[in-house]
Amino acid sequence: MELALMANLRLVTLLAACLCIWATAQASRLLDHDEPSEFSVKHLGTTEEAMAVGGKRSLLQRSALPGGFSRGFSPIKLPDLPYEYGALEPYISGQIMELHYSKHHKSYVDNLNKLMNQTVEAEEKGDLAKVISLQGAIKFNGGGHINHAIFWTNLCPPKDFKPPSGDLLAAIEAKWKSLENFQSTFSAQTAGVQGSGWGWLVMKPDGSIDTVTMSNQDPVATLGLTPLLGIDVWEHAYYLQYLNVRNDYLKQIWNVVNWSNVEERFAVAKAK
Ligand SMILES: [Fe+2]
Repeated sequence: MELALMANLRLVTLLAACLCIWATAQASRLLDHDEPSEFSVKHLGTTEEAMAVGGKRSLLQRSALPGGFSRGFSPIKLPDLPYEYGALEPYISGQIMELHYSKHHKSYVDNLNKLMNQTVEAEEKGDLAKVISLQGAIKFNGGGHINHAIFWTNLCPPKDFKPPSGDLLAAIEAKWKSLENFQSTFSAQTAGVQGSGWGWLVMKPDGSIDTVTMSNQDPVATLGLTPLLGIDVWEHAYYLQYLNVRNDYLKQIWNVVNWSNVEERFAVAKAK
């Protein structure tokens, strides 16, 4: 399990790098007239594996190759939610979870697969301009998929809640003095996200932990950071229950944070 987790986190970083260098890679390939590589296949495949971290079941599964994908590209499949829609109540309503998962996350997955299909088609035609034009949408939908797949595993039903312990708690207390101070700092920073975005607890390349906020669906891996805990502050994540009071959502969500999952991610990141 630990080896798989290590590989998974490494692969999340690789996908982020893929998003950043995608156009360059595609351009180089087209200009050099190389045979099609497995670049996209490998990176999407590893992202699937990465999202399997911490779930009771595999959160991302490869499906059979569809006819629409050439060169053996396996589309991303919407991962299983590791609990029932209503399992996070009363802190996150079942209605929010159902819409969030079955509509919003699903749309990111569907869009990403369409974009990847279009990329392959454009690549086969040698249409570099088209390949490049797709990159922004790939980053948005790919990031949305990555972020939500992590988010589901970062949460757990309140009956399963356990506070952080061990090395992770020690690292939090070393930086923020106390868990409570960390949570208030994290919540305040994340509440300040302008528009839509995320708040994250991350590990930096030097092994230290920190908080960061990201706009839209930008994955933290694009900054070279390893995601440990992400909180979605798009309105779709809380508005039906908390209306415009984002602070209340950010106060209550600590009751359903799956610290065991965060600890596991932390341990794997440290071992890299
Ligand atoms: Fe979301």
